[in-house]
Amino acid sequence: MVQFPSDFLWGVACASYQCEGAWDADGKGPNIWDDFCHVTGGGRVKNDDNGDVACDVYHRWPEDIALMKAHNIRAYRFSVSWARVIPDGDGAVNEAGLAFYEKLVDALLEAGIEPLVTLYHWDLPSALQYKGGWLNRDIVPAFARYARIVAERLGDRVKCYMTINEPQCITALGYGLGDHAPGWKLPGEDLARIYHILALAHSEAMRQIKAVCGPAVRVGIVPCGRLCYPAEDTPENREAAYRATYDLSLPRWEFTQNIIMDSLVLRRYDDTAPECVRRFAATIPAADWDAMEKPDFIGINVYHGMCVDAEGKPAGGYAGFPLTACKWPVTPEVMHYGPMNTYRRYGIPVYISENGLSCNDVIFLDGRVHDPKRIDFLHRYLTELAKAVAEGTPVLGYLQWSFLDNFEWNSGYDERFGIIYVDYPTLRRIPKDSAAWYAKVIETNGACLND
Ligand code: NOJ
Repeated sequence: MVQFPSDFLWGVACASYQCEGAWDADGKGPNIWDDFCHVTGGGRVKNDDNGDVACDVYHRWPEDIALMKAHNIRAYRFSVSWARVIPDGDGAVNEAGLAFYEKLVDALLEAGIEPLVTLYHWDLPSALQYKGGWLNRDIVPAFARYARIVAERLGDRVKCYMTINEPQCITALGYGLGDHAPGWKLPGEDLARIYHILALAHSEAMRQIKAVCGPAVRVGIVPCGRLCYPAEDTPENREAAYRATYDLSLPRWEFTQNIIMDSLVLRRYDDTAPECVRRFAATIPAADWDAMEKPDFIGINVYHGMCVDAEGKPAGGYAGFPLTACKWPVTPEVMHYGPMNTYRRYGIPVYISENGLSCNDVIFLDGRVHDPKRIDFLHRYLTELAKAVAEGTPVLGYLQWSFLDNFEWNSGYDERFGIIYVDYPTLRRIPKDSAAWYAKVIETNGACLND
C-alpha cells in the first residue's frame, strides 16, 4: 500500500543555467557554462547548444509559476546563478540579480509554493575559474560570502537552502573526465582536494546562512553517486548492497556519495578509500575536520541504481534491459534502497531532490504531448519510495526533475526531462500528460498510485 506522510512535500526542480537564459542580461557576469558552450565547433556540447536563451525563465517565470500552481506543485527547487548576483564571484553585488530572485520568491509564496534554494548548481562565475575554481581554497570564503548575501536578501522568506548540487558531477565530470565545464582533466589526488574544498565551502556557507537566518533555517547538500540495490530481498543481499554503495575500492570512487558525505557527517574517509585519496588525506589539518558542518538534511538525486548479488557483484542486467531515452537503466528498486541506505549511514532525513527521466517527447497530431513512459516510470519509482517510507526512512519530500524541458548540459536540448514540454522555436509551454498525472498524485498525497 502506497502511503506518504501527511506533510510530505511534493514539488519540482530545476537549475539556473539549464532554464533561465538571459545569459548576459541586467549585469550578470559570465560563468563557466557560458564559456564552455561558447567555444563552438569543439564538440563539447551536442549540436553546439548553449544556455543563452534556454527556456527564458528569466522573463517567463510568471507563466511558469501559474502553470505550477495549476498543477498543484507545492515546492519549487531552483538554483541562484552566482554570477547574476555577484558578476565576478567575490566583488560587487549586482542589485538586479538579487531583485530577480526576490521577485521569484515572492511570486512563489504568493502562489502557495515553497521556494527551496540551491546556491550552487554548477555555474561558477568565470572570474573565479581563472583563479583555479574549486581547486583553489580561496573559493571557500567567496562562496560563504555569496551564501550570506543571498540569505540576507531572502532569508526572511526562504526556509530551506541546498548549498551544492552533486559535488560528484562537479568533481568527476567537470575536473576529472572534462565532459562538463570547466572541462579539466585532473588526476585523483586533485579530485580529492576538490571534494575537500567543496566540503569546506558547504560548511562555511551553512554557518553563514544560520548566522543570518537563525537556527531554524534548514540547510542541506545534494550528493549523487552509485546507489546499489539487492538482486534479491534477503538480509545478506541487503547488506551487500549497502556495502557496495559505499565501497570506494570499486571502480569510479569519485562517483560515490561518501567522499563528501563522510567528510561532513563522519569527519573521516572510509577505510576503502583509494591511495590517491589517502595521500591527500594525510595533508588535511585537524582544524579542517573540526570545521565540517553536518547538514540538516540530505537531498538525494535518484535516477538509476546498480543491482548487486549477495557478494556485492553487479547482477541483473541483460541485453534489452529497459532504458530511458538517454540510455539510463530503469531501476525503480533504487528508490527503495537508496534513501534507506543513505539514512542508515548518515542518520539524517532525506529529500528526493531530483528524480525523472528523459523521453523522446513530441507534439502529437492532436496538439498534445503524450508521455506514457514517463508516467509509468514515475509511478514505479514512487511506489518503491513508499516502501522506504514504510520501513522507517524519514523522507521529507519528492522533487520531480524537471518541471520544464531544459538544457541538459553537454547533451544540449535533445534530452527532454520535463513534465511540461518546451517548444524551443517559440518557447511555448505545453503540459505533457504526466503533468496532469503528477497533479493528481499530489492532490491525493500519492494515494492514487494504489489504483
Ligand atoms: C542531475 C543534475 O543535478 C541536473 O542538473 C541534471 O539535469 C539531471 N541530473 C539529469 O541529468
